[in-house]
Amino acid sequence: MKVAVITISDRASKGIYEDLSGSEIEKILNEIVPSCLIERKIVPDEKDDILKALKSFAGYDFILTTGGTGIGPRDVTPNVTEEYCDRELPGISETLRAESLKETNSAMLSRGYSGMKDNTVIVNFPGSVKAVRLCTKVIAPVMIHAVKMIKGEGH
Ligand code: MTE
Repeated sequence: MKVAVITISDRASKGIYEDLSGSEIEKILNEIVPSCLIERKIVPDEKDDILKALKSFAGYDFILTTGGTGIGPRDVTPNVTEEYCDRELPGISETLRAESLKETNSAMLSRGYSGMKDNTVIVNFPGSVKAVRLCTKVIAPVMIHAVKMIKGEGH
């Protein structure tokens, strides 16, 4: 399974701070889904850069993004993801928010979107390390099943 992890952050993209969230997703996925081949990219909170990054991973099974899902003026990740996708997968984001709410009330401020572009599942996670730790653990157990379903292999 090919998985792309895109960190969407002005500061991480400028090297002002280390991309700890992208590393955390990679670490947890390697533990839970060892068959994953993971590629990573860091881009600023700019529509064109995010779109370009999403398009560069066409053909991947999953694209997981981290950051830019909140309500700040530069938080555009969900809007760009929704525009790029052709089908919504609302259950994924509903579940991530529901599980995250058990951790922090601020989870309700994440506008994260989940959907599909062709056969690629794209999921927005919030930006913090704490958030991606939880979200990766929630989604990892269904990833292999999702890929089988998309390929029409059934249950
Ligand atoms: N979800 C979990 N599980 N854990 C968290 O710490 N942080 C919240 C929320 N979701 C958080 C979380 C916070 S503080 C914000 S502002 C929103 O996600 C949006 O974060 P983002 O703008 O970094 O994407």
